Amino acid sequence: MNGDVRDVGLASSGWDRISWADGEMPVLRAIRERFTREKPLAGVRIAACLHVTTETANLMRTLRDGGAQVALCASNPLSTQDDVAAALVAEWHLPVFARRGEDRETYYRHIHQVLDTKPHLTMDDGADLVSTIHHDRTELLGGVRGGSEETTTGVIRLRSMAQAGVLRYPIVAVNDALTKHLFDNRYGTGQSTLDGLIRATNLLLAGRTMTVAGYGNCGRGLAMRAHGLGAHVIVTEVDPTRALEALMDGYRVMPMADAVRVSDVVVTVTGNTSVVRREHFEAMKDRAVVANSGHFDVEIDLPALADLADERRTVRPGVEEFRLRDGRRVYVLAEGRLLNLAAAEGHPAAVMDMSFANQALVMEYLAREGEQLAPAVHTVPSAIDRQVASLKLAASGVTIDALTPEQLRYLSSWEEGT
Ligand code: ADE
Repeated sequence: MNGDVRDVGLASSGWDRISWADGEMPVLRAIRERFTREKPLAGVRIAACLHVTTETANLMRTLRDGGAQVALCASNPLSTQDDVAAALVAEWHLPVFARRGEDRETYYRHIHQVLDTKPHLTMDDGADLVSTIHHDRTELLGGVRGGSEETTTGVIRLRSMAQAGVLRYPIVAVNDALTKHLFDNRYGTGQSTLDGLIRATNLLLAGRTMTVAGYGNCGRGLAMRAHGLGAHVIVTEVDPTRALEALMDGYRVMPMADAVRVSDVVVTVTGNTSVVRREHFEAMKDRAVVANSGHFDVEIDLPALADLADERRTVRPGVEEFRLRDGRRVYVLAEGRLLNLAAAEGHPAAVMDMSFANQALVMEYLAREGEQLAPAVHTVPSAIDRQVASLKLAASGVTIDALTPEQLRYLSSWEEGT
């Protein structure tokens, strides 16, 4: 067996769930059918570091059917679905290096094993492949034509590499495609984070107060869906425009220090570090639930909480109780790792359909044109973005109007005014 997965015996359940997700991914399916005929990725080696989910499995099949040789490792130690990893290895003979719950050392060993395939293209969710190549595997740099990045946090990391002048190959920021962040970040994170919260705790949200830290696209989606379940939503922000938007969207806006005094649930989606800190734990209500749905597990200062606690124990799968010295209890979900993937299944397939359609088309674009691109962070070509939107509308049975010749003329003229 080529790869390192928990149990290949899980393959048949993995295969059934991958097929179920495939049914929700018509855009990716259409691309796969074309890739199968045209083989635009023939001879291309792709290293992918993504959450190992049913949706990712369908992306891997698509790349492979397009002629690529693909190797996959996990982009988070807690998000791997072991049955999916097993199915990819056993049914499709894809090298997959991912075990749910793997320790840090195994996580990085798996990244190196994927890089051992000497990729022409990299595909990241959080920039760990790019960063490992630039730090420890610089011998690979000559052979890499380009890479893609799936998530906001990864794009921020890569832009700072580009700004520091150390990025050595072109990256396409799939996250920044409109058909990615306006849908996946908002509707995907909104639903899947609540899915994780509810699966882990079985809490009733109606009538409860929930704080959402961060009002980017993820925060917007989460606040909207929590409101839909009857929660009183508070938003915390550091950006005045976003804070104003949250206020006018109907939420209460206040600093975290005030929010924690009244919140039953606090969820971070900022992409920044130490958003919930010692002084916040000190002011929390008894039985407050704290979770993170941002990419890295840095948003909740768990060492500070551990320091304040006399006792800690797991009270349900994925729910850890910290008993503070004054008797108050604080519950942390999924070790502060991204809740939607660690306690649920990540974004639903119907929304990953668009994100991964962008990924597949960007791999085709980079295989063709990567060598001509500068080593910088690039946007997804708008033709790809529009193609994904059109295919999704068509798959949803929706048609739209087209501009008339008169409207086209009007839009391109500057002479007509009042
Ligand atoms: N990121 C968020 N949700 C995901 C999913 N279902 N699969 C892969 N990556 C994801």
